[in-house]
Amino acid sequence: LYKAVILVGGPSRGTRFRPLSLNCPKPLFPIANQPFIFHHLSALSKVDELREVFLIGFFEDSVMRQVIDEANRHFPQFTVRYLREYQALGTAGGLYHFRDEILRGQPDRFFVLHADVCCSFPLNAMMRSHREHQGLCTILGTKVDREVANRYGCLVENPATHEVLHYAEKPEGFISDLINCGVYLFDCTVFGEIKKARELRREQLTPGEPLEQLRLEQDILQPLAGNQRLFVYETVDFWHQLKTASSSVLVNSLYLQEMKRAGSPLLARPYDDGPEIVGAVIIDPTATVDPTAKLGPNEHACVLYSVIGWRSRIGAWARIEGDSAPNSLAQRVITENGVKVQSSAILGEQVTVGDELVIRNCIVLPHKELKNSFKNEILM
Ligand code: GDD
Ligand code: GTP
Repeated sequence: LYKAVILVGGPSRGTRFRPLSLNCPKPLFPIANQPFIFHHLSALSKVDELREVFLIGFFEDSVMRQVIDEANRHFPQFTVRYLREYQALGTAGGLYHFRDEILRGQPDRFFVLHADVCCSFPLNAMMRSHREHQGLCTILGTKVDREVANRYGCLVENPATHEVLHYAEKPEGFISDLINCGVYLFDCTVFGEIKKARELRREQLTPGEPLEQLRLEQDILQPLAGNQRLFVYETVDFWHQLKTASSSVLVNSLYLQEMKRAGSPLLARPYDDGPEIVGAVIIDPTATVDPTAKLGPNEHACVLYSVIGWRSRIGAWARIEGDSAPNSLAQRVITENGVKVQSSAILGEQVTVGDELVIRNCIVLPHKELKNSFKNEILM
């Protein structure tokens, strides 16, 4: 018997997701036309022995009620329940608080998934790896660029055994490019470790100071490293966090691409008298699409109303844009901070624009290498 927990957090978090989170809690935000955590549930539904999923967080019950009902209809393989923390208890505090629910029926092991990550969730592969090493926890890891690794939990592994020798949560400097994806498989004996960690934290508190939050990372995983109890299973599939509002664009397209690879029937198919469909596209049944429309493609970069000079390079997901009205040839002149700029983007010869940058209404002189986004500027 297996169980699973999705840590959904609560309303005080997800501020970076504004303004989208003003309308919808981040875990429920529609991605590839489904509430975000349905992608987690869908992966969990492929684990045969899994019978119960808990969403643990500190949103009001009323916020979660509808999606829980919907999830139970959509995933009859298991029951889905929402367990509400009376306050933010931390990533391990919530697990510990609801340990009786998790342990009921004596499950062999349980998964813990962060709600704010997207990936292919290779849960069955994690189970196989766990059976081999017989440790206390299997943590899903992935390699990221060196420069950004310290925004995450960093793992140093023994490459032969995949044991985690060292765990550092968001370290100041570089430690490893193998990071914690926020997906774990735990033996139930982990509650003993959480209990120990709580007692240790208690001792460290000044008298009267309340033990507010217990963190899975610093309080539990870090001490487990180097003791042959923590192991990493590395995924080479896609992985990304859903933190900022604009990261939803990328996360959405990652899931669409995954659906395309898997041949999902939910994707729109081209038909003779319908709109032109390029790439992975979902059309909601309630949407009305003009037959002359072109939907997609998600080309990872967008160039509008711009001139791109010879041998220039535009990075992935970058956007180069001017705001000329399409039917107007007249160049409007905009003045910003006393500087005249044109309503288009002009890149000279051999300009390099880094990944994910937005260049709006700029004139860029030749041979420039842009590493930041710019608006209404002349870049010399
Ligand atoms: N129930 C509950 N209670 N959930 C919580 C709480 C809490 O008190 N605090 C955070 N969460 C949830 C969040 O909603 C999110 O889904 C997840 O736990 C982790 O959120 P953060 O605490 O914001 O951590 P992070 O995302 O900055 O870093 C963690 O995840 C990274 C991978 O995405 C760490 O585990 C990193 O090591 C890891 O690399
Ligand atoms: P991380 O710290 O890496 O999570 O980045 P962030 O969340 O601080 O960055 P941001 O919100 O700017 O963008 C998140 C992701 O969304 C980036 O990795 C981009 O690839 C992607 N992204 C941002 N803007 C766009 C866009 O206009 N179109 C597309 N397709 N993707 C975008």
